Amino acid sequence: MAYETIIVETRARVGLITLNRPQALNALNTTVMREMVAALEDFEADAAVGAIVVTGSEKAFAAGADIKQMQQMSYIDAYMEDFFAGWEAMTRIRKPIIAAVAGYALGGGCELAMMCDFIIAAENAKFGQPEITLGVMPGMGGSQRLTRFVGKSKAMDMCLTGRMMDAAEAERCGLVSRVVPVGDLHEEALKAAGKIASFSLPAVMMAKEAVNRSYETTLAEGLRYERRVFHSMFALDDQSEGMTAFVEKRTPNFRHR
Ligand code: HXC
Repeated sequence: MAYETIIVETRARVGLITLNRPQALNALNTTVMREMVAALEDFEADAAVGAIVVTGSEKAFAAGADIKQMQQMSYIDAYMEDFFAGWEAMTRIRKPIIAAVAGYALGGGCELAMMCDFIIAAENAKFGQPEITLGVMPGMGGSQRLTRFVGKSKAMDMCLTGRMMDAAEAERCGLVSRVVPVGDLHEEALKAAGKIASFSLPAVMMAKEAVNRSYETTLAEGLRYERRVFHSMFALDDQSEGMTAFVEKRTPNFRHR
């Protein structure tokens, strides 16, 4: 499929999606949303792909939802099309998705990064929810996901002042998992994704589902869920292979990859 706003490639077992609207700092319009969801669903269905990386340019991961598209929007347009709801499809992807963020990740860009499973940031990354400066508020999860990830005080600070957070602060408060030099970002993200893709895919998908469950439920329920899923893993060939390989001091050859 030919895409207009993203570049879609595979590197070994990793699917790589690069936002490609340099003239608008990768602002997210409806076409980007449609194309991103289509590309992710293709990777989800492709047995040769075990993990996905979503990235932008060195200057901008994405500078937000497309303000020029939204400028003339009316309430009835936004309500009837359930504006932004289409992005939720991203959170139904069961394979792991890493956001590799350099430059600006603002508004919808920050929210897109937070919809991924974890964020690797370049040293020049800047995160923010500046919607308040435009007379609105976050609409793609910023008030909810950011609060769960970094806590109320910092989320309030970001959403109410619209200020940006640099990569060091983002790592300190747990928004990103690691910070790397700008020039190493793609390699580090592809390396992490490649490692994940070398493991048993059902085990990876179950682990992703279990971590995500912790945001949806109580600790007691989450622990019970984890234990039940863990028990079910003893039905996987890959459990047997992984543990046998360890005992035999060899590299496992997982069947379900
Ligand atoms: C549309 C955008 C854009 C955006 C940048 N551009 N951000 N177009 N939507 N979100 C365009 C600019 O208009 C300009 O094009 C080109 O990209 C380069 O941007 P500059 O501003 O010239 O670059 P620079 O001076 O380096 O400043 C970078 C920046 C600034 C600090 C990131 O662009 C900026 O503040 N952008 C908006 C960030 C923002 O407010 N994001 C939140 C959006 S709302 P032209 O052709 O004009 O030169 C959102 C959720 C909405 O995400 C939820 C509410 C319902």
